[in-house]
Amino acid sequence: MSKQIVIIGAGGHGKVVADIVMLSGDTVLGFLDDGKALGETVCGIPVLGPVSAYVHFPDVWFLVAVGDGTLRERLVSRMNGVKWYTAIHPTAVISPMETEIGEGTVVMANAVVNPCARIGSHCIINTGAIVEHDNEIGYFSHISVGAKLGGTVKIGEKTWVGIGAAIKNNVTVCGDCVIGAGAVVVRDITVPGTYTGTPARKIR
Ligand SMILES: CC(C)(COP(=O)(O)OP(=O)(O)OC[C@H]1O[C@@H](n2cnc3c(N)ncnc32)[C@H](O)[C@@H]1OP(=O)(O)O)[C@@H](O)C(=O)NCCC(=O)NCCS
Repeated sequence: MSKQIVIIGAGGHGKVVADIVMLSGDTVLGFLDDGKALGETVCGIPVLGPVSAYVHFPDVWFLVAVGDGTLRERLVSRMNGVKWYTAIHPTAVISPMETEIGEGTVVMANAVVNPCARIGSHCIINTGAIVEHDNEIGYFSHISVGAKLGGTVKIGEKTWVGIGAAIKNNVTVCGDCVIGAGAVVVRDITVPGTYTGTPARKIR
């Protein structure tokens, strides 16, 4: 049966999530966004009020569509007792072999999730990203457009892997890291921070 979805966040990421929901045959009722006025529309979809208005929609499914992992976590923690929608684009390739995808997670167009990969809740697997076999992705993490994770990579909670970055197989990246666009991570990262370049080094 078709589900009714309210999306938290009416920015660019929210638009992409709305597209995925509709392509999946479900219905987008509208956005909740503290930065937009009630009655505004975004890509023809209405803004239904601020985030606190979620209490007026008891029977729908929600998804927090905000790129920043820390803000995403804060918003999720404000919304007690709701049903979280998991959005998977019809062109994403998700292995049926023991893969797990947590609630509230988004898997975008042409992303690949291979066998035994485990993705936590409220993550973003962005357009064309590759999550290889036996990967573990911590909750609220973001694997950006075209990023590639080799086999048996572990990514900690709230870590953001930038656009086109690559993580070598068997490498672990701890939580609360930013891996810069195009970086290549060849060794474990155990200290939270921002890492760029090839091989990736800590810049702060
Ligand atoms: C790594 C990153 C977070 C740093 O951002 P920032 O804190 O604003 O840093 P700055 O832009 O001030 O750059 C600091 C220095 O790092 C360098 N740098 C920044 N990003 C870099 C990258 N990805 N690779 C190599 N060097 C980088 C800058 O050239 C600058 O060097 P300098 O001091 O010699 O001039 C950011 O550049 C980045 O790569 N973000 C990822 C964006 C992305 O993937 N978006 C995906 C959306 S799906």
